[in-house]
Amino acid sequence: MKPKTFRDSRLGVLLAFTNQSILNRHINNVARAREHGCCLAQQHFVAVLPRKEKMVRIKKLMGAVALVLALTVGATGCGSRGGASESSGAAAKPSDSLVGISMPTQTSERWIADGANVEKSLKDLGYKTDLQFANDDIPTQVSQIENMLTKGAKALIIAAIDGTTLTDVLAKAKEQNVKVIAYDRLINGTPNVDYYTTFDNYTVGVQQATSLLTGLGLVDASGKKVDGKGPFNIELFAGSPDDNNANFFWTGAMDTLKPYMDAGTLKVPSGQTKFEQAAILRWQAPVAQKRMEDIITSAYGSGTKLNGVLSPYDGLSIGIISALTSTGGYAKGTLPVVTGQDAEKGSVKSIVAGEQYSTIFKDTRQLGAQAVKMVDAVLKGQEPETNDTKTYNNKVKVVPAFLLKSVIITKDNYKKELIDSGYYKDSDVK
Ligand code: BGC
Repeated sequence: MKPKTFRDSRLGVLLAFTNQSILNRHINNVARAREHGCCLAQQHFVAVLPRKEKMVRIKKLMGAVALVLALTVGATGCGSRGGASESSGAAAKPSDSLVGISMPTQTSERWIADGANVEKSLKDLGYKTDLQFANDDIPTQVSQIENMLTKGAKALIIAAIDGTTLTDVLAKAKEQNVKVIAYDRLINGTPNVDYYTTFDNYTVGVQQATSLLTGLGLVDASGKKVDGKGPFNIELFAGSPDDNNANFFWTGAMDTLKPYMDAGTLKVPSGQTKFEQAAILRWQAPVAQKRMEDIITSAYGSGTKLNGVLSPYDGLSIGIISALTSTGGYAKGTLPVVTGQDAEKGSVKSIVAGEQYSTIFKDTRQLGAQAVKMVDAVLKGQEPETNDTKTYNNKVKVVPAFLLKSVIITKDNYKKELIDSGYYKDSDVK
């Protein structure tokens, strides 16, 4: 391309570019530098000046470039590296940066483990941390995040209680140029969420339903359909309607079960087959237990046997199993097939004891490590690795995500997946 010229007001020189995209980047950077009152270095240019001025100006230019570079890698808080995106804390040392970690609750083991893993990995890298649990209370979570901002946090890792309630506090985060990583649960309705890391939530739902089918003997261990069985009675539970994941779990599960329901192989005697009927606000075990009791009383009165329950979370499974053994009168060895999620110790014990049939293992060590990698990258002005830029539309933008893989756990493989991998000790689950 014929060189295009551009007057750099910071350097006081006329520059010529042979590459259009580098020219555009330079123009943008000058504009941003003006906006933020700081400088961003660019090197891909040649000076085009009247001949006699050339040597003088080039000397001046070299000095100016050196100055610009020094400012960029110094404590200006601006700049980018290796073609990476601009970040709030670029060039700051980890020990100068506070990272806020906002977790929803301590009522479930998984979130305690998530918080601990994330905190430890950040500290190992030298970051300062502020870890808070919000008791599943939305105002508490908002005020904890506000506090993190007041303390000067440079990045936030947030597992939202309700994905739609953080818009205002995240607008404040944006004003302070704080980077936001949505952790496990998507944050909805705001442009101010930078990245997302989670498991492939649709697949988690497919796995839950698949394990239900395997437990009922409709699918064999290799995942192949086995004909001639059934019909079976099942009941369906879904997660909290304000948690974006709950819908993904439900959709994955229902896509898997629907063909069997349409064929009459699976029946739902309660007739409650809609998400709104099956959803349990805030994933509360006592609410699931009560719903299961009500269904047993209303739809299983005349000796109708319940064969399976789709449960999306171990906490709910425990409540459901209580209802089945009390109101339902099922003895421990004759329980319906009950699924779950999170491989919490209590449920793995129950699986080992032959009560709960399955759970889904989501290795919180991997998730924590991924979130920390993202924070570390953005605070260094780099682009974090993502592997999904299509699925997670938060109604304002598609949030770039890194999705991890989950595993179905039953009595047959818990040792390999949970004990041999060092996630639990054998004594934790016996
Ligand atoms: C998580 C699940 C968890 C559920 C209840 C969801 O957002 O993805 O792993 O079981 O919340 O805590």
